[in-house]
Amino acid sequence: MQMYDIIEKKRNGQSLTSEEIRFFINGYTEGEIPDYQVSALLMAVFLQDMTEAERAELTSAMVESGDQMDLSAINGIKVDKHSTGGVGDTTTLILAPLVASLGAPVAKMSGRGLGHTGGTLDKLEAVPGFHVEVSSDEFVKLVNENKLAVVGQTGNLAPADKKLYSLRDVTATVNSIPLIASSIMSKKIASGSDAIVLDVKTGDGAFMKELNDARELARAMASIGNRVGRSTMAVISDMSQPLGYAVGNVLEVEEAIETLQGNGPADLTDLCLELGSQMVVLANKAETLDEAKERLKENLSNGKALEQFKRFVSSQGGDAHAVDHPELLPQAAHRIELPAKQSGTVSEIVADQIGKAAMMLGAGRATKESAIDLSVGIVLNKKIGDHVDEGESLLTIHASTPEVEEVKDKLYSTISIASGTAEAPSLIYDTIT
Ligand code: URA
Ligand code: CA
Repeated sequence: MQMYDIIEKKRNGQSLTSEEIRFFINGYTEGEIPDYQVSALLMAVFLQDMTEAERAELTSAMVESGDQMDLSAINGIKVDKHSTGGVGDTTTLILAPLVASLGAPVAKMSGRGLGHTGGTLDKLEAVPGFHVEVSSDEFVKLVNENKLAVVGQTGNLAPADKKLYSLRDVTATVNSIPLIASSIMSKKIASGSDAIVLDVKTGDGAFMKELNDARELARAMASIGNRVGRSTMAVISDMSQPLGYAVGNVLEVEEAIETLQGNGPADLTDLCLELGSQMVVLANKAETLDEAKERLKENLSNGKALEQFKRFVSSQGGDAHAVDHPELLPQAAHRIELPAKQSGTVSEIVADQIGKAAMMLGAGRATKESAIDLSVGIVLNKKIGDHVDEGESLLTIHASTPEVEEVKDKLYSTISIASGTAEAPSLIYDTIT
């Protein structure tokens, strides 16, 4: 088999066989096929697309390029969630214990990642003592005992994806549905869960800004998951404004705790109930989505979800006392309000700009090596559709320094106030199976 022939075939719009896809992935992972040939193939895929069968083969080949978590020693249907990423997205911290509180096992591998705030691991590590380095045996034991554990990703999960992603980044081939879908799904599938709920975001703060693109990505990922034998579905949710009120690591942990206490922001709570009920049904812990949702709501109001979270925190070495007293978590030295310059209705809060402002405060990582400040960030006091009076605070900046003029300017330019009324955006646009 020759790489040249594979490139030519795809360039001409033909489908590649399973053998051809594996030849290219294995050869590339092992360094036998040069970057220039793989670049040409990636561009051919970008222009000619791949069939659903090809996408599933590509994903499986990437999964098999590295370590795969074996979760077979965990009882029950292991269920996972993946979000394509948004601003102020704290859902994992809420969903994982919420779903586990109904007996659905959640064995989660999570990342730190680059972006506006740290990832789930950074947020959890804000709890004193919490650790994410857990051996595979311990991981299995924790999930069997508590229905929930969250660990750091192993270094060798889908190494083919890591290599391909770096190459896509410099060859203008990132933005391709078959390549994005296989990239995301290869890591999810290698992490071992039986069932996967995808939260595909759309809007300014999302990777897929347009609803139609988000829908296409959701369909592509669900198709891959189901073809390789994992029950997969996707919810398409709004990321035009930040989710909930808090954007920042500790601020989001505090918001997650409030939500687990049953006092969370409406949009964040609703999204968790929606994604959670899908997870519970896939895990066979409820017959219908309505039944699942009712029982999840119950566990938010009767304290069981919060208890599950505390048990989880202690089981990984964290101080569960901090869950009852979030003021013990790292707090920013300065709180600065952003007063509205006019009265009216908030009509726009551009999510990715709020994210950038959080980043300017030090909440996120620009490169893998950057340090992050867990305490800083932004707490919205108003969301789209809310009335505001002149001088009333639109949001509170949590900063390590009182000098935040630049951040304030940025924030003023991302929030619009209209004189009439403004509708809050829909939270959920579609559900794809
Ligand atoms: N996230 C990924 O993991 N892969 C992509 O290709 C795009 C976003
Ligand atoms: Ca939030």
